[in-house]
Amino acid sequence: MEKTLVTWHPHAVTREDRERLNGHRGCVLWFTGLSGSGKSTIANALDGKLHALSVHSFLLDGDNVRHGLNAGPELLAEHGEQYARRFGLGFSAEDRQENIRRIGAVAQLFAAAGIVTLTAFVSPYRRDRDAVRRMVEAGGRPGDFVEVFVDTPLEVCEQRDPKGLYRKARAGKLRGFTGIDDPYEPPARPEVTLRGGAQSPDDLADAVLTYLRQTACIG
Ligand code: ADX
Repeated sequence: MEKTLVTWHPHAVTREDRERLNGHRGCVLWFTGLSGSGKSTIANALDGKLHALSVHSFLLDGDNVRHGLNAGPELLAEHGEQYARRFGLGFSAEDRQENIRRIGAVAQLFAAAGIVTLTAFVSPYRRDRDAVRRMVEAGGRPGDFVEVFVDTPLEVCEQRDPKGLYRKARAGKLRGFTGIDDPYEPPARPEVTLRGGAQSPDDLADAVLTYLRQTACIG
């Protein structure tokens, strides 16, 4: 394969400079779990709490990122079919891998900017999440990647069905839906596990906040 000639340049303002200014560390809080498990709701609640504490935080959310950076082929149609097929992302294992790789790279940049970065993606494959963990920590420090497993039983997610997608998948109108006819691999050793069916989103957000204080990410 032809080599691209690009060189990494050090930044004049370091991550430590930015973190000193912010008064807290940057990190990546990687929420993972089934669709409907509560990832976005909990992450949004936590984002609100961090903001109220004057912590610089930002949430990268699955459905939103798939409208822009990781748009599907249908959203790229105006650029032509070949382009849309090449760069658009769907839900095959390969497309999910690329979805998570790009988000991981963006999250790493946010963390390097000293931001407490929350991500809410199904991210069903362990190897993809582990690859992001390695990338984030190699580009930063150990402990930068915090895996938050939103462990909500499939039955609960399916009962909630906020977008009606489980119903579609059960009816055979949507193929390859995570938890129904596509795999979800739970994390082996997540830093935080949240029982999504048992406690309120507010209480679960507080549990992550406690973790951030215990690990001195925030004061
Ligand atoms: S991931 O698997 O690549 O991490 P991501 O979090 O970006 O997925 O997007 C998941 C969201 O896309 C779900 O919450 C759901 O609304 C929607 N979706 C559409 N098709 C699928 C599918 N086949 N599997 C899972 N989610 C899907």
